[in-house]
Amino acid sequence: MITLKNVSKNYGGLQALSSVSLTIPSGTVYGIIGRSGAGKSTLVKLIGLLENPDAGEIYFDDRRVDNLRGADLLVCRRQFGMIFQHFNLFSSRDVFGNVAYPLEIVGKDKVYIKDRVLGLLELVGLSDKAHSSVNKLSGGQKQRAAMARALAVCPKFLFCDEATSALDPQTTSSILQLIKNIRNKVNLTVVMITHQMNVVSDICDYVSVVDGGKVIESGTVKELVGFPHSKIAKDFVSSLIPSYEKTFKNLLQNSIIFRLYFSNDIVTQPIVSRLIKECQLNVNILSGAVRTVKDQFFGELVLELIGPAQDLKFAVDKLKSQGIVVEKLNV
Ligand SMILES: Nc1ncnc2c1ncn2[C@@H]1O[C@H](COP(=O)(O)OP(=O)(O)O)[C@@H](O)[C@H]1O
Ligand SMILES: [Mg+2]
Repeated sequence: MITLKNVSKNYGGLQALSSVSLTIPSGTVYGIIGRSGAGKSTLVKLIGLLENPDAGEIYFDDRRVDNLRGADLLVCRRQFGMIFQHFNLFSSRDVFGNVAYPLEIVGKDKVYIKDRVLGLLELVGLSDKAHSSVNKLSGGQKQRAAMARALAVCPKFLFCDEATSALDPQTTSSILQLIKNIRNKVNLTVVMITHQMNVVSDICDYVSVVDGGKVIESGTVKELVGFPHSKIAKDFVSSLIPSYEKTFKNLLQNSIIFRLYFSNDIVTQPIVSRLIKECQLNVNILSGAVRTVKDQFFGELVLELIGPAQDLKFAVDKLKSQGIVVEKLNV
């Protein structure tokens, strides 16, 4: 388990992180999602002990680690591997040489290294590329090689900082599937840093939404998708389906538009016809979808509601009392 308590980081007057607290349970895939500049990479650099916080504390299980120095710090850092958007492979070395590198650093002998590297290349599906130049690999193959290198010294934690951001959707899926497979084979806690909500919904168990250097909301992925609270969380959840808002923006000036989020049994209920019958509203459906995340159903409707103000208020209160999250959109 990794615990951050009120961690802050300042870069020359710029508050990259302010008082971040979160807990990453062992054996989970934990998502950290936020827009560019939110502070995600700073967060992973602090958790990975590559930089020190200005304030706050970091614990691995019950051990405080942010104040480690020298040999203790180096040994502690070996508990984690990292992969990045741009792979960061050594172009002077072939695939084998890249994966062997961290094992050479810790002084493993040649026989062990050969055995371990070939095993890792098999795990990531690159057995036939051991002696290829990394420059000749596709993006997905480069990320597989980077993952084999990150796993070489058997880390407990794998940090993936925008690891799929440079990949096309199909390759992204295959890399996420690989991470799932590896997580099932070896005892690994994975931290996925991303700006892509589909990555979170596909692979993560828990998620924290980061914005402006702060954790805005945290919870299970099911909670976030079913009941997003903050504006930014709602935007991320909406990004899972194409949005038609912009198209309607010009056509529907002066309209009152709501986005509804709901889950499980509410998905099967006649929400729209109740609005019409019980609230006497006219309803214009702008978009709607039901998606499955981890075997549960999550629905989303974007509706133009037409009627007197008091009927709209009655309708919104009624929806909320049924457990539906209601967001008024500004068009
Ligand atoms: N080494 C650094 N020196 C100065 N400013 C930095 C440094 N690293 C990050 N920042 C700033 O901190 C903020 C958060 O950056 P970062 O953690 O990289 O965001 P993200 O990964 O979410 O895009 C940004 O405003 C960025 O410019
Ligand atoms: Mg970043």
